[in-house]
Amino acid sequence: MKVLSLFFFLATIIATCQGASHHPNPSFDCLSWRLAVETNNKRGWSVVPQACVSYVGHYMLGRQYRKDVQAVADLAYNFAKAVPLPLDLRPNVWIFDVADTVLSNLPYYAQPDVAFGGTPFNSTKFAIWEQKGISPAVHGILDLYKKLQSLRFKIVFISGRSESLREVTTKNLKNLGFTTWEKLILKQTSDAGTSSQIYKEKKRNELLAQPQRYRIVGNVGDQWSDLVGENVGLRTFKVPNPMYYIS
Ligand SMILES: *[C@@H]1O[C@H](CO)[C@@H](O)[C@H](O)[C@H]1NC(C)=O
Repeated sequence: MKVLSLFFFLATIIATCQGASHHPNPSFDCLSWRLAVETNNKRGWSVVPQACVSYVGHYMLGRQYRKDVQAVADLAYNFAKAVPLPLDLRPNVWIFDVADTVLSNLPYYAQPDVAFGGTPFNSTKFAIWEQKGISPAVHGILDLYKKLQSLRFKIVFISGRSESLREVTTKNLKNLGFTTWEKLILKQTSDAGTSSQIYKEKKRNELLAQPQRYRIVGNVGDQWSDLVGENVGLRTFKVPNPMYYIS
């Protein structure tokens, strides 16, 4: 009996190894998937592929994600320092998306039943998390925000969160050290029913149409829908996010 179960045990290992030989390095496939996501080649996906849940979890909780965000922040700051801007009266604006660009939802996504985006999005559960207003800052972005302010950029947050979350979002931002901003733009009921890309484009266009004639210089977001369309700014910067896709 013992010999038989040992046989099946070994047979299983051999079968697993042979199966694996068709995919010499499974994590390589997940790296390719993540690259496709970050480059906006892969679009419209709804969940992280099952095979990459563990890979994405390790990426998000490990050093690489932090390093990658820091690299984005460094590039943004280097651009902001050097960009030649007309000496007119137009206020120079730097746009930030909020979710997973400024306020991290990683504690939410790291929950076992959320599995770093490996399970379908649960809007009820996510709304409860947002209401708590306890997001940590995305590592490296608070420092960028402070440096941009010292360069006299006006900060505008454009968030897909609804207006009803203004108080909790304001508190969360201030608690983390995001002390002042020009505008915190949140979704109004009249904005319902459009994609995030169309909503954000509309808000940027409204910004340009205001009497101050804001000039959008930089724009940072974790979703391509933050960074494409009309009037995205002189330059855009993509913060990594392999956990979910918003069109
Ligand atoms: C969504 O989350 C709520 C609140 O945690 C939970 O009661 C509900 O069962 C979840 N729905 C699904 C489909 O998992």
